[in-house]
Amino acid sequence: MPDFANLLIRWQQQHGRHDLPWQGTQNPYLIWVAEIMLQQTQVKTVIPFYQRFIETFPTVAALAKANLDDVLALWSGLGYYARGRNLHKTACVIMDHYQGKFPTCSSEIQKLPGIGRTTAAAIAAFSYGESCTILDGNVKRVLTRYFGIDGYPGLSATNQRLWEKAEAVVPRSNAQINMSVYTQALMDLGAMICTRSSPHCIVCPLQSHCTAFLGDRVSCLPTPKPSKVLPSKETVFLLLQHHDKLLLEKRVNQGIWKELWCLPEANKNHHYQSYCAQMLGIDAVCVDLLSPPIDHTFTHFKLRMYTQRLQVKSIFQQPQCNPICWVTADEAFRLAIPTAIKKILSKYRVASTPTSL
Ligand code: ADE
Ligand code: SF4
Repeated sequence: MPDFANLLIRWQQQHGRHDLPWQGTQNPYLIWVAEIMLQQTQVKTVIPFYQRFIETFPTVAALAKANLDDVLALWSGLGYYARGRNLHKTACVIMDHYQGKFPTCSSEIQKLPGIGRTTAAAIAAFSYGESCTILDGNVKRVLTRYFGIDGYPGLSATNQRLWEKAEAVVPRSNAQINMSVYTQALMDLGAMICTRSSPHCIVCPLQSHCTAFLGDRVSCLPTPKPSKVLPSKETVFLLLQHHDKLLLEKRVNQGIWKELWCLPEANKNHHYQSYCAQMLGIDAVCVDLLSPPIDHTFTHFKLRMYTQRLQVKSIFQQPQCNPICWVTADEAFRLAIPTAIKKILSKYRVASTPTSL
């Protein structure tokens, strides 16, 4: 995939960032400190902290000799203090076990505390020009779009595909390719062009090969985090027919549908005819079996709604709890009824013959 790397490198040289305080050096210590600070913190926040830190601890030996308290004091304001503690600990490990010299390949670097695969790769690429692969949040976004990879990147299957793609595009060691520029290009493109919302595809060097751009799918990639599975409830609504009318009751004091007109509600364990007699003062017989359910999603739960149709024989008592009314289906739609109930009524209206309602 030479195109990908070459396009990126050419773009970086013209339009990328060149004057960040950790650029222009191949000193792994200076690069390591920056990469750790940049793990969870934005570039513009990191810059002043980085400068103070490097002035105070200019070498790995100076950092190892320091008091942890002094290191953390300089970290104060950057957050995620485990990073600061690990930095100090790793400086000591390098002094004690690596003769004060930073390891020189990514696989060795990755064995140090607080250094994951991407951070090790960035340090090795910037310090030694090693051909290795980074995959941080910005790069994941670029690659999901460029390759049109569906699936939330936090899922391990998606993550694995992304690593494979990242490895497939990384230039192999070759005198013409500067790994430091390539790695910076990927980071810069993600931060400056292929941004989370409204990316600047118009000026993107990858545009003509980008799957998301070509397929008009930029705004749906990366796939967002799947929403939590909602709890689900089941209920049964009673459709009581009397000539061409049906019964609605107004929920006076009940939850999300307070003050709205609804179908009377039972549940699957009820004997519907007895329920009508006891709760509504109505003698009615079931017309058919429970209808297939209709699902409705609320913010916090899903409701699976069954409908039981009943034919009214007689009304022997006014219902006690809620106000009721007898309306045609058309009249019902002009009342304040919940969307979920409208779904039932619409389906019912289509299914029923004009004379039955
Ligand atoms: N984010 C992580 N590493 C970075 C770097 N070297 N330059 C800019 N942003 C980064
Ligand atoms: Fe990202 Fe747009 Fe470039 Fe594709 S064309 S990589 S979506 S900025």
